[in-house]
Amino acid sequence: MTDEPKKEMVVTPWEVSGDIDYDKLIDQFGVQRMTKEIEEKIAKHAGFKHLQLRRGVYLSHRDTDWWIKEYEKGNKVGLYTGRGPSGHVHLGHLLPWFFCKYLQEAFDADLYFQMTDDEKFLQRDDLTLEETIALTYENALDVIACGLDPEKTHIFSDTEHIGHLYKIALNVSKKVTYNTAKAIFGFNDSNNIGIVWYPAMQAMTCFLESEREGKNTPCLIPAAIDQDPYWRMTRDIAEKLGYYKPAQIHAKFLPGLAEGGKMSSSQPDSAIFTTDPPKKAGKKVMKAFTGGRDTVEEQCELGGRPEICNVYAYYYFMFEENDAALVEREMKCKNGEILCGECKKTLAKRVEVFLTDFQKKREEAREVLDQYLLK
Ligand code: TRP
Repeated sequence: MTDEPKKEMVVTPWEVSGDIDYDKLIDQFGVQRMTKEIEEKIAKHAGFKHLQLRRGVYLSHRDTDWWIKEYEKGNKVGLYTGRGPSGHVHLGHLLPWFFCKYLQEAFDADLYFQMTDDEKFLQRDDLTLEETIALTYENALDVIACGLDPEKTHIFSDTEHIGHLYKIALNVSKKVTYNTAKAIFGFNDSNNIGIVWYPAMQAMTCFLESEREGKNTPCLIPAAIDQDPYWRMTRDIAEKLGYYKPAQIHAKFLPGLAEGGKMSSSQPDSAIFTTDPPKKAGKKVMKAFTGGRDTVEEQCELGGRPEICNVYAYYYFMFEENDAALVEREMKCKNGEILCGECKKTLAKRVEVFLTDFQKKREEAREVLDQYLLK
């Protein structure tokens, strides 16, 4: 084992890097740990326990138990998630979207899906507004390909649907001081004022369904934990505006194919994009970082290390539904009975099959895109 020093963890809405320590994050962010009770309740309403729940992808939350109780009382509940359209979508992005589909069906919930073309334009020097808007529609195809219900899914672009959004965002912005925004997001004098305003846009969606229903509607946000600062801000002001505080369920990051860190668009070889030709994606898998040893002899003798292996992580999070088969793979790896080449080959095949199917659905989505857009 190497004793390399841990890389410092940075988790903000704009940067995720270093060695992620989820226990520390839960303490730092002051969120609640996921509980068996919540997992079982979700499974009960869904009729089955989703792979992501079985494998602990959602390790923390805020008030998810309350959101479920509201549903059990017979109240309408809603879902909200979003995407910053800065490039193509990769597998890491899809995890919470698949989970949204599961929750949408289990709780008969509408999903509001925010495309933050404004945020990505303001935050990135290399993207024009035309580009982030075009990516909004490209990325929407991926959202639709996850199988969401067209009647109950409302995808919108911050720039193009602003008429539905602006009044709520204004109400939010008036309640948040610059001092608070600086403390939460670390803004300083060199930030453009657009990005300082932007948190009002991300917060606003928590209240969009309540406005449209004309009735306070509990909102649950499935998202990666790096987005939590927005909800901290939103929860602070929700009641002042007469709304419920939004609830959250936080996902872990899907690791990239390279060593350490999450799957990231800024390292194209570490990520499998939904638009990658399947064969090319398979090749990326064949080059992935594993927990294997330097030589075959060593590996047969000492066994592999699934706990640090990204290929194993892909089986774990997405590509091995069957719990028994997963355990068997882990044992065989640890016993040196299965080598990395074989394990990667099997995964590459599964990734190729997945992408071929997903890309077909993604193309079909072009025909129905309009049905999914916020009206
Ligand atoms: N800020 C997010 C991003 O950069 C996009 C986003 C907007 C979002 N609203 C959300 C993500 C709600 C999760 C949940 O990707």
